[in-house]
Amino acid sequence: MKRHLISAADLSRDDAVLILDTAEELARLADRPIKKLPTLRGRTVVNLFFEDSTRTRISFEAAAKRLSADVINFSAKGSSVSKGESLKDTALTLEAMGADAVVIRHHASGAPHRLATSGWINGAVVNAGDGTHEHPTQALLDAFTMRRHLSGEGPGVGQDLAGRRITIVGDVLHSRVARSNVHLLATLGAEVTLVAPPTLVPFGVESWPCEISYDLDAVIGKTDAVMMLRVQRERMNAAFFPTEREYARRYGLDGDRMARMPEHAIVMHPGPMNRGMEITAEVADSDRCTAVEQVANGVSIRMAVLYLLLGGNESAVAADRTEESK
Ligand code: NCD
Repeated sequence: MKRHLISAADLSRDDAVLILDTAEELARLADRPIKKLPTLRGRTVVNLFFEDSTRTRISFEAAAKRLSADVINFSAKGSSVSKGESLKDTALTLEAMGADAVVIRHHASGAPHRLATSGWINGAVVNAGDGTHEHPTQALLDAFTMRRHLSGEGPGVGQDLAGRRITIVGDVLHSRVARSNVHLLATLGAEVTLVAPPTLVPFGVESWPCEISYDLDAVIGKTDAVMMLRVQRERMNAAFFPTEREYARRYGLDGDRMARMPEHAIVMHPGPMNRGMEITAEVADSDRCTAVEQVANGVSIRMAVLYLLLGGNESAVAADRTEESK
């Protein structure tokens, strides 16, 4: 595995499967009364958030704490960034604090890459979402969730997604989740179809390893998972569709459309959801929707990523047993 996790495209099939299998092992911890492992004791993880986040931020925090790392949470609001401090000076400050890993979310695509290659810090860099570019740990937790539901032989280590049909629907243009998912799912052998209005399809998508469709009804009957994307109003600088009603009618998932999915197929959403826009409340609250489960799985995935980047090379849980027996 590389030293940093910047893009889902950096993961080989073996890397991705190692992360998913490690997360599966670590997930078992969630069933224990005491959820903590001593694995990263004495290590420092900094969560550097320049953009709003609920799920990703608390998930990385919970993951680092469950591995006994010291966690420093930094958010741009209320810090010297609002006084105009640069990414470089912020990074040098973190380095002075001895950060072993820096988890960064930034509104600029490419900021995590800059941090990883600048020489400003020595620790591992994890991209927690950069602009409209990538969000690799989201793609990993999504694959983990799909593997648990769709692998045929039941959940567990070593299952794969080869040949599974995944449909990703909505605001692909502004979505770092879609790009990371397309890369990772292709690596894992799944067949991905993107469905979006023509105005919300990114430039250059022909080179992505997936199919494109403009008609949700044409693909919904032959899919194993439908991933609904949030319409990202905060990144829109123009009118990309006529009205919200029109968008919901053509690209939203409601009860009638969901009923046309194969019986085993699941509905996914990375959150936050715009209920009534890309997904109706009926679908969001149905037992086919895995949105809440995805959040829980995110903690296991982020534990696995931190564990592996910070030098874990034996079984994460076995390492814990050795510590216990000392
Ligand atoms: C996504 C993000 O921030 O990119 N959410 C998340 O990480 N759970 C998707 C979104 O904001 O719509």
